[in-house]
Amino acid sequence: MSVDVLLGLQWGDEGKGKIVDVLTPRYDVIARFQGGPNAGHTLKFEGKKFVLRSIPSGIFQKEKINIIGSGTVVDPQLFKAEIEALETSLGSLTSRLYISRKAHLILPTHRLLDSAYETSKGEDKIGTTGKGIGPAYTDKISRNGLRVGDIEHGLVEKYRVAVARHKTMLRQMNINYDLEQLEKDWFAGIETLKQFRLIDCENLLNSELRAGKTVLAEGAQGTLLDIDFGSYPFVTSSNTICAGACTGLGIAPSRIGKVYGVFKAYCTRVGGGPFPTELLDVTGEIIRDRGFEYGSVTGRPRRCGWIDLVALRYAVMIDGVTDLIMTKSDVLDMFETIRVCVAYEIDGKKTEDFPYEIGGNVRPVYVDLAGWQIDMTKIQSEKEFPKEFNAYLSFLEKALGVRVKIVSVGPDREQTIIRYEE
Ligand code: GDP
Ligand code: IMO
Ligand code: MG
Repeated sequence: MSVDVLLGLQWGDEGKGKIVDVLTPRYDVIARFQGGPNAGHTLKFEGKKFVLRSIPSGIFQKEKINIIGSGTVVDPQLFKAEIEALETSLGSLTSRLYISRKAHLILPTHRLLDSAYETSKGEDKIGTTGKGIGPAYTDKISRNGLRVGDIEHGLVEKYRVAVARHKTMLRQMNINYDLEQLEKDWFAGIETLKQFRLIDCENLLNSELRAGKTVLAEGAQGTLLDIDFGSYPFVTSSNTICAGACTGLGIAPSRIGKVYGVFKAYCTRVGGGPFPTELLDVTGEIIRDRGFEYGSVTGRPRRCGWIDLVALRYAVMIDGVTDLIMTKSDVLDMFETIRVCVAYEIDGKKTEDFPYEIGGNVRPVYVDLAGWQIDMTKIQSEKEFPKEFNAYLSFLEKALGVRVKIVSVGPDREQTIIRYEE
């Protein structure tokens, strides 16, 4: 069998969590392949709302196996909090949540370093989530990291060595801190991690595939935040793109089946960095209010703007998207006109290519389409789509060269329209 991949095509928060939950009944295993608690994946059903950070969004469906993959970074303290919150409604998760031994650990000093680096950047700060993601991945790449498997292999000694190194770095930056409580919480989190099955994720997944099981790989963040192909340096520190599912899970590229690319009917970004279609006016505020665009991890207001087909086309290409999924269609319900960015004008020259650097000289070129101006949240089938909405979908499909398989018309699991099956 093959592994299907679901990932974000913009700057994160596209609604990946909701869609993974909707698709979970079709799969045996759901595996997060990168990122850490910088993610916030929101799910709503039966009047309840949950936000997941490190745990895959398939966790609510009992008979499924969920895996925190090798390409992720895990903060034991936040993991413990996440588990405790979920177990109050779901009961014990130890039989259906496994963790890769090769996932890296986020140390409390990684969090301190994250904030110190941000402060040192001043105006140019990335606007990270402050969860220690960059420093944890830096230690991984520089071969200084601690892995989840170290819990079974001399963790305390390895922890002391790493923390001593971090302390030197913090001293050089004149950072004052008190580690005592942070360390206690961290080691309490390690005790929680010990209750779970630690696995060699590559072996387990490949043997499940040989046995005919189906796997959905869940991405975090979005393609434009990818460390290699995103809007560098305003990116996260992992490979958020489809290839990240191979390196993050130990799956061969030839195993990849469908690639589901999730995007919002408009565009948002949280933190710093370029955003050509950003709306700093009342329209942007309306989108923020209607879409409730506030970070699910940090609570920060998200920057909002029109859909950007230059950036989306680029993401579709990098990820090899086979099926598009459009979320938050309902948020645009009230607009008479909806703008679509089809090209950029850079120093007076028009281009449809995503540039090396997006500076202040990049101007979006828009096409205006008619809005549908009806409440989409109650729609139950494609037959009820207004003609303006169909025209919007067709316009996007033509520009991106891929069909939109799923349209989400509200945050609830039920507010989802699947347009076709193969
Ligand atoms: P993720 O990080 O990609 O999983 O996305 P987030 O959970 O951070 O942000 C998406 C937000 O939009 C969440 O609050 C969801 O409940 C909500 N959401 C998802 N799909 C829809 C939709 O179709 N319409 C509306 N109005 N909200 C949605
Ligand atoms: P989900 O999975 C939106 C952004 C941060 C910052 C940059 C780097 O919920 O879509 P980091 O803490 O990773 O070093 O921050 O990336 N960012 C996200 N933005 N959604 C996310 O995750 C994000 N995870 C990180 O705001 O700009
Ligand atoms: Mg999110």
